[in-house]
Amino acid sequence: MPPSNGGSGAAQSFYGRWAALYDALARYTPGIGSLRERAAAALELDRGDTVVEMGCGTGANLPYLREQVGAEGTVVGIDFTRPVLDRARKSVAEYDNVHVVRGDATQPPIDAADSASDLQAADAADPSPNLQAIDGVLATFVVGMLDDPAAAVDDWCNLVGPGGNVVLVDAASSDHRSAPIVNAAFRALVVLSTPPTTRLRYDRDPQATLDQRVEAARDALRERSGATAHETHALGVVRLTGGRID
Ligand SMILES: C[S@@+](CC[C@H](N)C(=O)[O-])C[C@H]1O[C@@H](n2cnc3c(N)ncnc32)[C@H](O)[C@@H]1O
Repeated sequence: MPPSNGGSGAAQSFYGRWAALYDALARYTPGIGSLRERAAAALELDRGDTVVEMGCGTGANLPYLREQVGAEGTVVGIDFTRPVLDRARKSVAEYDNVHVVRGDATQPPIDAADSASDLQAADAADPSPNLQAIDGVLATFVVGMLDDPAAAVDDWCNLVGPGGNVVLVDAASSDHRSAPIVNAAFRALVVLSTPPTTRLRYDRDPQATLDQRVEAARDALRERSGATAHETHALGVVRLTGGRID
């Protein structure tokens, strides 16, 4: 399925080209493992549950999600960049209940019917698992890349339905007392790590655009949630927001 959000071709070739480096950063940056563990725990999953990760990248969250749902649960990672998906697929080859499929997170290849959801894999490389219901959706470092993050989050809330959880983890400007230094470093990171032809990179203030998108996503989640949890990490740069959908 062709992805539809703006600049998606640039994003795919960027993440595709840097897949190996991104994978190393995604797995071995100090503190990243415990953050991923926290994010998986914030989904409040039970064993046997089904969880979908939007924009799963090279799959660094997938083992933590698998740990939450156990051998009897189902984990599905969706991403539109083939080389990162290939890495993700290899990294979870040992689990038969972890599926990695190619698709657009803003139009996930999942039909959320009331009683039964079917996942149509956009890639024939992975057999399409049948999903009975989706208990949780995770998106880490993804909503800042979406043109309309609020709409995407709203769709994700519809996918899990009442009682399910959606968890977002993102980096955005910090108001910590070391903020000027942290924010300068973060600004450089945003520019370097953004695909060169996406609108975000060429915005006059890419950091402001990223902050707005992250905030819009969080607002959308809070609007749909009866209970929300919020944590910050890495001097306030990294935010984790979880919501239980009403
Ligand atoms: C910064 S990486 C984060 C990857 C992973 N979530 C992690 O925490 O390591 C962003 C990922 O989102 C994917 N992505 C961005 N927009 C997407 C979309 N509309 N549909 C599917 N994947 C998308 C990119 O291909 C990339 O792999």
